Amino acid sequence: DGTILALTPPMGWMTWNYFADNINEKDIKEMADAMVSTGMLSAGYNYVFIDDGWQGGRDNRNNIIADPQKFPSGIKALADYVHSKGLKLGIYSDAALLTCAGYTASLGFEEQDAKAFANWGIDYLKYDYCGAPDDVEIAKQRYKTMADALRNSGRDIAFGICEWGGRKPWLWAAQAGGQLWRTTNDVRDKWKRRSVEEGGEGILNIMDLNASLDQYAGPGHWNDMDMLVVGLNGKKGPSGDLGGSGCTNTEYQSQMSLWSIMVSPLAATNDLRNMNAETKRILLNKEVIAINQDPLGKQAIRKVDNDTWTVLLKPLENGDYALAILNRAGTTQIADYDFSGFGLNDHYQIRDLWQHKVIGKGKKWRGSVDAHETKLFRLSKTK
Ligand code: DGJ
Repeated sequence: DGTILALTPPMGWMTWNYFADNINEKDIKEMADAMVSTGMLSAGYNYVFIDDGWQGGRDNRNNIIADPQKFPSGIKALADYVHSKGLKLGIYSDAALLTCAGYTASLGFEEQDAKAFANWGIDYLKYDYCGAPDDVEIAKQRYKTMADALRNSGRDIAFGICEWGGRKPWLWAAQAGGQLWRTTNDVRDKWKRRSVEEGGEGILNIMDLNASLDQYAGPGHWNDMDMLVVGLNGKKGPSGDLGGSGCTNTEYQSQMSLWSIMVSPLAATNDLRNMNAETKRILLNKEVIAINQDPLGKQAIRKVDNDTWTVLLKPLENGDYALAILNRAGTTQIADYDFSGFGLNDHYQIRDLWQHKVIGKGKKWRGSVDAHETKLFRLSKTK
């Protein structure tokens, strides 16, 4: 019907990195309640994304069903509950016979599953690629089949393509009908991967991999850098020891800055029922979220990239710029940047979006940046 889905990057909370497949309707309803009571919803996080592990196979007419032990009231009742709170509901499947965690998936049942999701009131589908061939043409075709099925389902269901970047989805996923696509392997609760053998990526690894893909992002089509690990604090969920021993609050704050300026979808995955003050301060920073949700929808361009610094610059709709300065080094460093080096030739007011105040005026900024800290500024032209 011509609706453009995901005009700004989707925001919400996702079950996977805390619960893994150990999910149930009680926990998810509690999380929906917490999204309202903690202010997550009013800050813009309006999706509850159910990830892998909800499925209970198919009935004798091949209709996909939820695990009756985990979801005794069924997904439709859960969708109704979530909608009554002003939230939307996402669900998960996979373009093969089984999902990554071994549950029933949608290959060959795309039309039927899309209709089931629509009947339940689902608003978003994350569609994984485990068990499917490493072949870009097959990937395109399988994603397109599901995208078409969603479009025929009678409901607006946003489509998240999750093939982890291996087949360069930024080149084809929008055409295949996706509003977003993962660009990397899974994020883990860590700053940096120490070896190639180590499973999962750290915050820094994902940022580096995603930084050159700015030309592919825009309203309705986003590079997905995977979940925010903010607030996991190295804690293991009910079954969710996915690896990663936690980050410092400085590093979590960097993730929030970097994912925001790179217009990634923002999906928290921490236990929202037990958030400390630092976690809330990071996830609920509305000035930072406004950078992510800016209607122009431009991903930041990488202006500096060396062993010590990564600098990212993002134009905003009202003519302002967001500027991120990341200290990659393990010790505090002094940054000294003239904005003309980034192609900015005016005078600016510099607002620090973490300190919530104007910290300077002019054509340059010099200051100290802690190890793994990201300064996030809003630059507004002055006369
Ligand atoms: C792989 C994905 O990348 C993860 O985000 C998660 O959805 C798991 N699969 C679920 O099995």
